[in-house]
Amino acid sequence: MPHPRRKPGQKAAPSRSAQAVPGLAARRAALRLLDAVLRRGEPLEIALHAATQGLADRSDKALAHAIAAETLRHLPDLDALIDGATAQAIPADAKARMVLRLALAQVLRLETAPHAAIATALPLVDGGPRKLVHGVFGTVTRASPVLPDPPTLPGEVAARWAGQWGEAMPAAAARAYAVRPPVDLSLREPARSAEWAERLAGDTLAPGHVRLPEGTPVPPLPGFKEGEWWVQDLAASCPARLLGAGNGRHVLDLCAAPGGKTMQLAAAGWRVTAVDQSAKRLERLGENLARTTLSADLVKADLREWAPQEPADAVLLDAPCSATGIYRRHPDVLHRIGPRQIEELAALQAELLARAADWVKPGGHLVYATCSLEPAEGEEQMTAFLAARPDYTIDPARQEELPAGIASTGEGFVRTLPDVLAEQGGTDGFFIARLTRSAPAHP
Ligand SMILES: C[S@@+](CC[C@H](N)C(=O)[O-])C[C@H]1O[C@@H](n2cnc3c(N)ncnc32)[C@H](O)[C@@H]1O
Repeated sequence: MPHPRRKPGQKAAPSRSAQAVPGLAARRAALRLLDAVLRRGEPLEIALHAATQGLADRSDKALAHAIAAETLRHLPDLDALIDGATAQAIPADAKARMVLRLALAQVLRLETAPHAAIATALPLVDGGPRKLVHGVFGTVTRASPVLPDPPTLPGEVAARWAGQWGEAMPAAAARAYAVRPPVDLSLREPARSAEWAERLAGDTLAPGHVRLPEGTPVPPLPGFKEGEWWVQDLAASCPARLLGAGNGRHVLDLCAAPGGKTMQLAAAGWRVTAVDQSAKRLERLGENLARTTLSADLVKADLREWAPQEPADAVLLDAPCSATGIYRRHPDVLHRIGPRQIEELAALQAELLARAADWVKPGGHLVYATCSLEPAEGEEQMTAFLAARPDYTIDPARQEELPAGIASTGEGFVRTLPDVLAEQGGTDGFFIARLTRSAPAHP
C-alpha cells in the first residue's frame, strides 16, 4: 500500500518504532503527571486518573505513578545533576528538563537500566532538543552518581520551615522524607489492640493503634474484609481521641470524608453527623462505614452555607489545608504549596472555624485539626480565633489521651513535627487544638 502523502506543515505521525518502544506509554503518562503537578499545581493523586486513563495495564499505571513520585521526591537533587552536566541553561519548565528528570529518576531510584530509560525518554521530547537530552543523560549516567540521602528539600520550603521552627526542623523533615512511612491502622475495638498487634505482627503505640512495616499490602490482611480496622496515620487519629467516649452524645464531624475520624467517633459511641462537600469522597466514606459496620448520618454540603438545626455536644473540624504535614506520602505537596496557597487556605479555615464555633453547646468541645506544618494553619489560626471568641478556652490534652511520644505543647496544643516518634517511623505533621465553650453564667 502506498504511504499517504503528508501535507506541507503537517506533523509526522509517531514512527512505528517510537510507538513500539516497550513501556513508552507509562513514561508518557509520568510526563503528564509531572506537568500537572509542576506546571498546573494539581495534586498528584488528583491528576492520576486523567494522566493514566489511556493505560490498560494496572502495572503501567503504578509505574507512571512511581516514576512521577520518585522524580518529585528527588527533584532538587535531579536538577543539580542536570545543571552540572551542561553549560546550557535549561528552563525549569522546559520539556527537556522534565524528560531528563524522569529518565534520571528511573535510573537512580527505580533500577531502570540506562539504555531502557533513554529509549523511553527520547520519544517524549517530541521534536525538541533530543541531542541535548541524550548528551546530558549520558554525561550524568556515565559518572554513576548517587542521589543524596536524605533528599534535599525544595529550597523555599526548607527556608520557610527553618524560619518558623528552627534549622533542626527541615533537617528532620528531610530524614523523614527519605524513608517510606509505616502503615498505621486504627481499630474498631481499641480494647483489642494487643491481640490485633500480635495477629498482624505489628506494634501498638496507643490503644486502638497498630503499626505495620511500610509497603505492607493492606487488603489481604486478616480483619480488613471484616472491617476490624482501617488505615489511618497515628497523628491523624489524635483529634478524635481528644473527644473520648461519646456515650450516645451528638458530634458534628465537619470535613469528614473519607471518614477516618468519623469511624473513630462512631466506634467510640458518638452519634455522628458527618458533613463534607465532596460527593465522591462521601461515597468512599459510605463504603468505609459499610465495611466497618459503623454508622453515621452523611450530609453533602458546603460548610460556608450549611448549618445544623441545633448545636451539638461536640464539633470536630478537620479543616481543608495545605497538607504539608503529609509530604512523606505526597511529595507533590512541597512543589505545589507556597505562601499564597497557605494564606488562602488559612482564610478559608478561619471562616469555617467561625461558623463551627457557633454549633457547639455551652460546655461542649470544639476540636480543630489540620495536617499542616504551617503555623498559619495552626497556632496562628488559634491565636486569632481565641482573641475573637472569649467564649472559648484551650483544654490541653492530657498525656493519657495521647500516644506515648506525642505530648501537649506549652500552649496546650498538639503539634507533631517531623522529629516526633522518628525512631519508630514518625507520624504525619498535624496541628490539633481542643477548646471548650464556656457554659453560660448561672442567673
Ligand atoms: C483533610 S480532608 C478530611 C479528612 C477526614 N476528616 C478524615 O479523617 O478522613 C478535608 C475535607 O474537607 C472537605 N471540604 C473542603 N472544603 C469544604 C467546605 N467548604 N465544606 C465542606 N467540606 C469541605 C474536602 O472535601 C475534604 O474531604
